[in-house]
Amino acid sequence: MQHRTSRVAAAATAALLGLAVALGSGLGSQAAAADPAALTGIILGVGANESQRIVTWYSSADTAQKVQLAPTASLAGGDFPASAATFAALGGANIATSGGFNRHATITGLQEHTAYSYRVGTEGNWSPTYAFKTQDFEGDYDFLFYGDPQIGSSGDLAKDQAGWADTLDVSLAANPNAELLVSGGDQVETANTETQWNAFLAPDKLRQYPWAATIGNHDVGGKAYEQHLFTPNTDRSAGLYANGQPASNTSGGDYWYIYKDVLFIDLNSNSYATAQGGGGDAAHLAYVTDVINQHGAEAKWKVLVYHHAIYSPADHAKDGDNKVRRVDFPTAFSNLGVDLVLQGHDHSYSRSYLIKNGQKADANEQPGAPDVYPGPGGVLYVTGNSASGSKYYDITTPDNSGTSGAGNGADPLNPSNYWYNSVQNQEHVRSYVKVEVRNDRLVVQNLRSGTCAAPNAAVELRKVAWCNNTAADQPVGSVVDKVTVHPYQGDGQQVQVNVPTGAPGEFGWTIDGYNGLVDLGTAQDRNGDYFQASGHINPIVVSDSRRSLAPWSISASVSDFRDGGKTFSGAYLGWTPKILAPGVGAQASGPVASAWDDQGGGLAVSRGLGWANQGHPKGTAQLGADLDLKIPGTAEKGDYRATLTITALSS
Ligand SMILES: [Fe+2]
Repeated sequence: MQHRTSRVAAAATAALLGLAVALGSGLGSQAAAADPAALTGIILGVGANESQRIVTWYSSADTAQKVQLAPTASLAGGDFPASAATFAALGGANIATSGGFNRHATITGLQEHTAYSYRVGTEGNWSPTYAFKTQDFEGDYDFLFYGDPQIGSSGDLAKDQAGWADTLDVSLAANPNAELLVSGGDQVETANTETQWNAFLAPDKLRQYPWAATIGNHDVGGKAYEQHLFTPNTDRSAGLYANGQPASNTSGGDYWYIYKDVLFIDLNSNSYATAQGGGGDAAHLAYVTDVINQHGAEAKWKVLVYHHAIYSPADHAKDGDNKVRRVDFPTAFSNLGVDLVLQGHDHSYSRSYLIKNGQKADANEQPGAPDVYPGPGGVLYVTGNSASGSKYYDITTPDNSGTSGAGNGADPLNPSNYWYNSVQNQEHVRSYVKVEVRNDRLVVQNLRSGTCAAPNAAVELRKVAWCNNTAADQPVGSVVDKVTVHPYQGDGQQVQVNVPTGAPGEFGWTIDGYNGLVDLGTAQDRNGDYFQASGHINPIVVSDSRRSLAPWSISASVSDFRDGGKTFSGAYLGWTPKILAPGVGAQASGPVASAWDDQGGGLAVSRGLGWANQGHPKGTAQLGADLDLKIPGTAEKGDYRATLTITALSS
């Protein structure tokens, strides 16, 4: 009996063992069939505007994939909610030397002031979760610009990666609310070397802040740049590739995007001469002209980005190809109203004088001036130093080839510098450029992200013989250069119209066309008694297609007028509202006099612009108002500005 029981137990055990083996081999064959894709190289990229992002990654398998996105606040215990949005990925096979496949997806419809979480892949095989945030979709913001990380350039991949990661960490710790990371090109040393791309992409900051890619001469010799960095609104036509062959093992194309009042246009400057096979600089200029004609009015600033600095201070300053671009580009950029050009390639920092039509715009602009005032056509050109420390170029000496166009002559005001540069700097320390976008100025700074100490590959490896930085006086975060660009706006007084978020639903209003500054011109002196100026607001379009036919009203008030410490009351501004295009039952509100006339509150208190009664027809109307400013004759001379805030009400 005991023996028999034992035999039964032994048989049962054997059966269980057999099952366990079968289960194990079953798992193995299942895994081989599905082969979950390895998801690598994930990077958050800039989208077509502030409400978009593009995520790009590599996949080991050619499977359907997507980006999943949700407000971070909606995640429970790290799990995405059922309501999470998904964005289908596109992509194709990588070139053979890269192996695998590339995927990218465009995230659209982002909301303001929101922290988001995202991951890539598919059900059952998601990447880790990453996060980014949005901020206000209007108004001021900062972006950061990074010259040539060129990972692998020093010959020591780990040291290059360490310097690159440290610059990202330092710059974003100092500027956690920066909204864009803009590339100066040369992400890596060797175009298709994936170990270099892995090192470049290693820092998680590149999954938290959008990278705006720029192609450099070290990126152009293969497809890996395009495989890793998908960009919005990209024109991949033959003329914008150096060899004229987009399908070949090369990268290229020009692209543009608008991020909160800045139109960025990013060019493949590797292509500059038709002799290479592409469209040369003429193709880039046609592209820039076309984009500015179509979209320039949608932004207040125009920033160009490309790799090959045309006004730079170091090894590449006298390169023949840059002399070509220096003749081809500047007059067109002046004529197109470009404000700022960001460049790389020369691994040194420079800030140009204001350049107009290929010459110094104002012979009297002083070296290192803290404030510059471009008249029409004045353009500022900035060259970024190495963001990683992988390679530095030393400042070179001017020659006798002249002080305009392609010339590399000396600056009469500072003969050790090139004629075109206000500031040149090389200390052999890592740095980055910070740009503050404000409604009436751009502030451009070059900031140290390292010292002579490690991580600083080129110094550590003695690729350069010296390092000219005193950590005590020039620590991490200190300023190499700072300049404020005050745009040309004529001589008059101006009103900035500030547009808040439109009311939800089908009732809304918007500024009609480009919301330019309202220019009241130069006030006229009325017999020493008072000053008077007039103008009109940018037209406002109201639309209402709600079934409720509910009443609505639009009102506005103005701030005090200010110029530095000088001010006068907004009450001196009066207006006469009018209907520019009738519809939607719109009626103009009554006129309001300047306080100069009636000692009232003028527009310093909220006043109606227009309104409609309950039961009005559906449709749209265009509202306007003539402005009348009368200020006391005792007001101080100055260029004053005020903000008109518009408010809509509807039940
Ligand atoms: Fe470079």
